[in-house]
Amino acid sequence: MTQLSSSELMELEQRYGAHNYHPLPVVLDKGKGAKVWDVEGREYYDFLSAYSAVNQGHCHPKIVQAVAEQAERLTLTSRAFYSSSLGVFEKYMTEYFGFDKVLAMNTGAEAVETAIKLCRKWAYQKKGIESHKARILVCDGNFHGRTTTIISFSNDDEARADYGPYTPGFTGIPYNDLAAMEKAIQAGDVAGVLVEPIQGEAGVIIPDDGFLTGVRELCTKHNVLMMADEVQTGIARTGKLLAVNHEGVRPDVLILGKALSGGVYPVSAVLADDDIMLCIRPGQHGSTYGGNPMACKVAMAALDIIRDEELAHNADVRGKALRAGLREIDHPLLKTVRGRGLLNAIDIEPANGIDAWEVCVKLAENGLLAKPTHEHTIRFSPPLVMTAEQIQECIGILKKTFAEL
Ligand SMILES: Cc1ncc(COP(=O)(O)O)c(C=O)c1O
Repeated sequence: MTQLSSSELMELEQRYGAHNYHPLPVVLDKGKGAKVWDVEGREYYDFLSAYSAVNQGHCHPKIVQAVAEQAERLTLTSRAFYSSSLGVFEKYMTEYFGFDKVLAMNTGAEAVETAIKLCRKWAYQKKGIESHKARILVCDGNFHGRTTTIISFSNDDEARADYGPYTPGFTGIPYNDLAAMEKAIQAGDVAGVLVEPIQGEAGVIIPDDGFLTGVRELCTKHNVLMMADEVQTGIARTGKLLAVNHEGVRPDVLILGKALSGGVYPVSAVLADDDIMLCIRPGQHGSTYGGNPMACKVAMAALDIIRDEELAHNADVRGKALRAGLREIDHPLLKTVRGRGLLNAIDIEPANGIDAWEVCVKLAENGLLAKPTHEHTIRFSPPLVMTAEQIQECIGILKKTFAEL
């Protein structure tokens, strides 16, 4: 088969695919560690990591090996039967994260949906909220996925418009505002609070120190479930295994996805203790692929790598170096630099027809791939396997690009 060119491949997507994304004009064909290559063989640093799914680096040999071995043995049983992988995975996960039980799903959005359903079950069965009255507090600027229920409580018009009627039962409060949270809880019938420890899609919005501790205290005080969506911030991305670990906080419900699989195969999970998790009984929730043997093996390999290669520590050290390098750039287009670990962002002050999109196009031309999140913010979230030399090389590309703009 002859290899199609980048422009031919982009044309195919445009012609035959739904237009639900607006990608940068780069056609990737291969990946290894922190780097990817396009179909013409040009090399790039990946500064997006598939929205933090590829924390372990592209095509990590241990994950690829886990896939290959399991693909030859058994891929899918459904949950109609037991499998030789699921219980082993469940024991591994609950010990790794310190919860009584885990419920495996596939995508991040499904894990969030699972947490919402679990929270509502708990509200009626344990907290005693009147049927159909349970409310879940969500934060302005949230991003938790794309299902009909989840976009119902988004305040991003692009994600939400013309998808109504919307699912009721969610109350929005400002992010990083404990007083507003307590007031909303005191209004009654609140079953849970759904919170991102750092709002990734909103532009890497980091709350004040003490916010997560405050959420924990309010939830405990008012018998409300704290549900932490760590789909993007978890699995070592911010310099600790979980972003809540920065404040030593343990949520009641932990939501994981993305890098739980190292970007190889969709795996997501919800963790909680028995008192909560056992509110869901046989037949009340599930997914054909949830907890399948491939997923179980891939996730265990992905988490082994996080621990064995000390990727949380690496994210912390490389993140500090990256932000220090970015802060050396003195350019009118570059307004702010922020981040934790390797979840970082810069804000662009558009000028002379150059905006965040244009900066990303120029970065790509210089060999670094990043994407604007919202109009003026660019997220920098490379794989956590970046070496010290590689991060310095990337800082060089960033400096060179700004100097050219
Ligand atoms: C915090 C958060 N939750 C949930 C999701 C949804 O994950 P998925 O795209 O796998 O459904 C995302 C995706 O970006 C996310 O960042």
